Amino acid sequence: MTVYDALRIGATKTGRRDASLFLSHIIGCGASEIFLHGEKMLSTAEREKFFSFITRREAGEPLQYIIGVWDFFGLEFFTDSRALIPRPETELLVEYVLAGAFPPHPRRAKPAMNTGDRCKRQHIPSKPDNVSHTAGNAICAFHGSPSAKSESVPCSTEKSCEARFFEKNFLKGGSGENFFEKKFSPEKPVKILDICTGSGCIALALAFSLGDRAEITAIDISPDALALAKKNAEKLGLSSRVKFIESDLLEKISYEDDERFDIIVSNPPYITDAEMATLAPNVRDFEPHLALEGGADGLEIYRRLVPQAKNALKPGGELFLEIGPPAVADLVREAGFADVKIFNDYADLPRIIKATSENPI
Ligand SMILES: C[S@@+](CC[C@H](N)C(=O)[O-])C[C@H]1O[C@@H](n2cnc3c(N)ncnc32)[C@H](O)[C@@H]1O
Repeated sequence: MTVYDALRIGATKTGRRDASLFLSHIIGCGASEIFLHGEKMLSTAEREKFFSFITRREAGEPLQYIIGVWDFFGLEFFTDSRALIPRPETELLVEYVLAGAFPPHPRRAKPAMNTGDRCKRQHIPSKPDNVSHTAGNAICAFHGSPSAKSESVPCSTEKSCEARFFEKNFLKGGSGENFFEKKFSPEKPVKILDICTGSGCIALALAFSLGDRAEITAIDISPDALALAKKNAEKLGLSSRVKFIESDLLEKISYEDDERFDIIVSNPPYITDAEMATLAPNVRDFEPHLALEGGADGLEIYRRLVPQAKNALKPGGELFLEIGPPAVADLVREAGFADVKIFNDYADLPRIIKATSENPI
């Protein structure tokens, strides 16, 4: 059986995109190069692997868990059921941390007009299957669109460009308005804490981008997720750059006054109980509920996390949160943060909060 034959049969079962991604993964070429290998004969092992992937996909398993790797911020991460699949919205969170208050890709992200500019619809975490990397085709990360499935080919080239963009413009004396250059002296590493690290994608993307400019700690309550995060750190050669700690939020994090963090970043679970019931089956039945469930109003983790983060930040330190319910902004203000800003995601929904811990504690 040739690659073409397999593609034709697979496409009728899971759609062309998934079938070609499986094949490109199996034969080890780029997704866009699959057609260059159309006449290649698949070995028995390759054929069996392909049809086992198709069967798993037909049963609803996310493509990212089946192939076991996924791109995030231009880096390849191991993905499996121990942790949430890294989402494009979270890449935006990393971009905001790197660039501070300045929207890094104005064409792709813009600040919310006001905090009343909110999604009135029900939120479900973005299904990777339903996500487009193309700005013009951006869809509600939580609702998808009928055309989304055909638009969801991962764009690793674009991601690599993102990493290069930051290196050039933000880290190596480029002309971008650089949060790090402006705020932190190059002599002292910036202390960053990633709470709820899951696969480690945020902490490791920051470690990759900032090199020895940053000293990064990443925590998660799940030993399984942490094992995956450590495996990712090894894969990316970043094990010495990120310290992983098993902890219920900041319970196990002790610090002296002068050892507080410069930046805290987190993408905690924020799906409400009602939304859990209506989640897409490929999310609900396969991704860890510990990574999704945010309690009755989606705010359960934020209620504990935000005051703990306030205590753990230096005066002037910055908090960056991925959010579901925009009401998180009220919790952030109530905890005494200043300069609370909300930024929208690719689908123009409020998704990121940045706030400053101004007052000495
Ligand atoms: C939404 S996932 C985010 C994972 C990763 N940061 C990302 O953006 O893809 C949330 C993570 O929070 C972890 N978690 C849930 N409750 C926690 C708690 N009380 N303390 C620490 N981590 C927690 C889960 O295990 C899960 O890995």
